[in-house]
Formats: sequence, C-alpha cells, structure tokens
Amino acid sequence: MTTKKRILTLAGDGIGPEIMTEALKVIKIIEQKKSLKFEITEGLMGGIAIDNTGSALPKETITQLKEVDAVLLAAIGGPKWENLPQNQKPEAGLLALRKELEAFANLRPAKVFSCLADSSSLKREIIEGIDILVVRELTGGIYFGLPRGEVKNTKEKTYANTAVYSESEIRRIVVCACKEAMKRKKKLCSVDKANVLEVSQFWRDITIEIIKNDYSDLELSHMYVDNAAMQLIRNPKQFDVIVTSNLFGDIISDEASMLTGSIGLLPSASLGDGSKAGIFEPIHGSAPDIAGTGKANPIAMILSVSMLLENFGLINEAKAIEKAVELTLNNGHRTADIAQTGEKTLNTTEMGNIICRNLTDSL
Ligand code: IPM
Ligand code: MG
Repeated sequence: MTTKKRILTLAGDGIGPEIMTEALKVIKIIEQKKSLKFEITEGLMGGIAIDNTGSALPKETITQLKEVDAVLLAAIGGPKWENLPQNQKPEAGLLALRKELEAFANLRPAKVFSCLADSSSLKREIIEGIDILVVRELTGGIYFGLPRGEVKNTKEKTYANTAVYSESEIRRIVVCACKEAMKRKKKLCSVDKANVLEVSQFWRDITIEIIKNDYSDLELSHMYVDNAAMQLIRNPKQFDVIVTSNLFGDIISDEASMLTGSIGLLPSASLGDGSKAGIFEPIHGSAPDIAGTGKANPIAMILSVSMLLENFGLINEAKAIEKAVELTLNNGHRTADIAQTGEKTLNTTEMGNIICRNLTDSL
C-alpha cells in the first residue's frame, strides 16, 4: 500500500468496547506480521456519544468520518437510552451514520461453520453447508421514507411510516447484488411483497429488467417475504444471494444469522459507491444484559475486520483472519453462546487471544 489507510473505530455501548479490544488486537497482528500500518482514530457514537455530547452522532464524529477510509463499528444502544424520543436514540445515530456515508448496500453473509452445525436450533442436515449472502438496501425504504411520525388532523392519535423507493435506489442495490451473485453461485433471489405493495411491484419490475439486460447469466427468482421467512427455515440451502429492501432485510438477515448457530458470529459490510468510507460491524447488537461479564463472543467483530481488510484489497490478510477463526472453532474453543451444555467456555479475551495466536502462526 502506498498511502496509509485510515480507520475510525466506534466502540459504542454495551459489549461494544469489549469486542472492539479484540478486533484491535487482530489489526495489530496484521500490521506487525505484514509490515503494514493503519492510522486508527477513535470516535464517539451511540449512547456513549449521547452521554458525552448530547448527540448520538456528534459533529466531531461526522468530521472524522470524512477523513477515513473505513469505519469499524462495534455496537450501540441499551436500556439507558430507550426512553429518549425516536430521533434522539442511539439507533438514530446509526441511521444517520449510514446516510452520511451513503452506505446503501449492506452485505450480510451467513455461513455455517461445520463444527458448529450442532449449535443451531435447526437440524445439522438442514443447515450444513449453507452459504447465504443477504444484500439489504440500507439507506431507503420505510426506515427513511416521508411522511413519518404523527399524522395531523386525524380523529384519533395516528402515526405513520412510509415505504418509498426511487428507481435509482432500487437499481444500485440490485446491481450490487448481481455483482456479488456473479462471484458466487450465480443465483439471485429478490425478496419483496409484490402481492400487496406497489413499491414492491416496482422493485420487482426493475429487478427483472436489470437481469434481462445486463445479468442474463444469473438465475433470478422472486419470493414474497413471508414465504422467504418460511423457506429460510425449511430449506435454507436453496439460497445463494438474497436482495431485499431495508426492513425486510433487517428481519431476514437476523433469521439467516440464527441458521449459523449464533448471531455472535456474523459480520457485515455497509458500502456506498466507493467514494466514502464503508462501515464494518457485527450484525448483533450491544447485548447490554451481558456487558461487562466477559461472555460476549468477539468473532463477529473480528470477522468484520476481515471484511474491512478485504475492502482495502488485502485479500490474503482477510482470508487469514477467517482461517484463524475457523481453526479456533475447529479446535473446540467456544464462548457461551456457541457452547453445548457442559462444554468448557472461554471469555471474550480468551477467545480473542486464541484467534490472535492462530492468526500469528498462520502469517
Ligand atoms: C441492524 C439493526 C439496526 C437496524 C438498528 C439498531 C437501528 O437492527 O443493523 O440490523 O434496524 O438497521
Ligand atoms: Mg437488525
């Protein structure tokens, strides 16, 4: 690398700082073993930012975002801030962050580690070998649509949110999903609710046109979201890449994550057109119930570092991290969320240390 890549870390709330510590150890090893140097800055976001500055995404953090190549985010939110008005909650900061970086494409891979197939609540034969990528639209849809909030001049108190998609918003996310599918098994399933929603029918029409004109090598299917939720449990191996809107993707990706045994294992990348920093974060939340107990699984956070490095073009380093995680799991090391009854469990730091040792040995 000619110029030093810059990373902004946002550790956030709950288990966030604990798992971020493990991610930073992994980055340090990559730097040392590969003679690389990243410029790492810390920033404030989420509940901790509210406590310190009064805002979930403070101005100072917005300035920092503009000066980095990637954002590594741990987790935000918690009961302490739950009763704040909607637009002042930690979650509002996360939405503002995604919007600020125009990170419209959220890639959420759900892959089963064979040695963990028994930690899933589904049978081994249903889930073994699944490798799904959910491509979720992240900066539009009902999360951002207007009008939103209280509806005036109604007989009784009424609230609304609006599902809106423009043609360009649909195009860019579907094209992104097509590119991902081309690198994989070339199967794309677009999930919508076109039997009821006009916005979904529009999504479907545009998707068909894109595949017909530019990606005719892809096998395209469409599924209503209720059926997709059912099919993911019934026969998850039928899926390769799923592309869907913001809210459907939020739900479907949590469901897909549970197929793999634990939500504590899955990373994500939120990307724009490449002109701004991408966001790399675990798909799980801040788990305030286990914060400070050492029970958090650092794997999703560590795999988020792998996705970040891949985005920097450091493919071998990204793969090495994945391999180190896999080896650690194959060797039987477990945090509480993935341990079977009676199995010895490691705490967050111990798990991080073993992954780091395996990574060091492999580089
Ligand atoms: C996610 C989370 C967020 C979302 C919340 C915390 C705002 O559930 O990243 O999936 O709904 O997008
Ligand atoms: Mg979610």
